[in-house]
Amino acid sequence: MPVVFFKRYRMQFDLRNARFSDSVLPEGYELLPWCPELLNAHAEAKYRSFRNELDANVFPCLGAADGCLRLMKEISNRQGFVPQSTWLATHRNSNSGRLEYCGTVQGLREKLDVGAIQNIGVARDHRGMGVGSAIVRNSLKGFQASGIKIVTLEVTEKNTGALRLYQRLGFEVVSTVFKSVEVKSV
Ligand SMILES: CC(C)(COP(=O)(O)OP(=O)(O)OC[C@H]1O[C@@H](n2cnc3c(N)ncnc32)[C@H](O)[C@@H]1OP(=O)(O)O)[C@@H](O)C(=O)NCCC(=O)NCCS
Repeated sequence: MPVVFFKRYRMQFDLRNARFSDSVLPEGYELLPWCPELLNAHAEAKYRSFRNELDANVFPCLGAADGCLRLMKEISNRQGFVPQSTWLATHRNSNSGRLEYCGTVQGLREKLDVGAIQNIGVARDHRGMGVGSAIVRNSLKGFQASGIKIVTLEVTEKNTGALRLYQRLGFEVVSTVFKSVEVKSV
């Protein structure tokens, strides 16, 4: 099968001496800490955030509802799972009262004092209001509370919006990696 390569940046945030102010979200939004009962909600938020996005080509499981559920189960069962760095964003519509799962992030411990942010996503209708920034900040605070000093993540080079968000929050590019993906046709 043909293979395509996606250029990705590995970014890093130094948590030593970092201080985080509380994030203020627009009305109706709330961030919920991890609990196992929220597994399906995270999977739903992940699917709503990544379907039809660039990273669904890089990680095809992100583009399918069952793939997102499988991924959530796999991450939350890993030994290095960091519950304190795993957050769900919700939005309650003030007119209908309907609750939507609109954002998600997970944390993993890669080494004793190194954490990794996984799959941050905000559903399209809820972007540009600070939800993504608030989720990342909460995740960083959770890593810090778990004794982690350095947090890494990977972002696809062409995902310029996400790259800008991480740079604005204080992440720095430390290396370039290439992710190979098998495709049916190129
Ligand atoms: C990347 C992503 C998570 C950002 O989420 P978001 O909720 O839009 O993020 P924010 O609102 O915090 O910041 C995005 C923009 O809104 C602006 N913004 C931040 N707070 C704001 C606020 N309170 N009001 C209005 N705009 C705001 C920011 O300045 C930023 O602008 P920029 O594009 O010039 O950097 C989202 O676009 C996404 O899910 N993309 C698809 C999945 C994906 O690629 N994830 C990243 C994988 S590495």
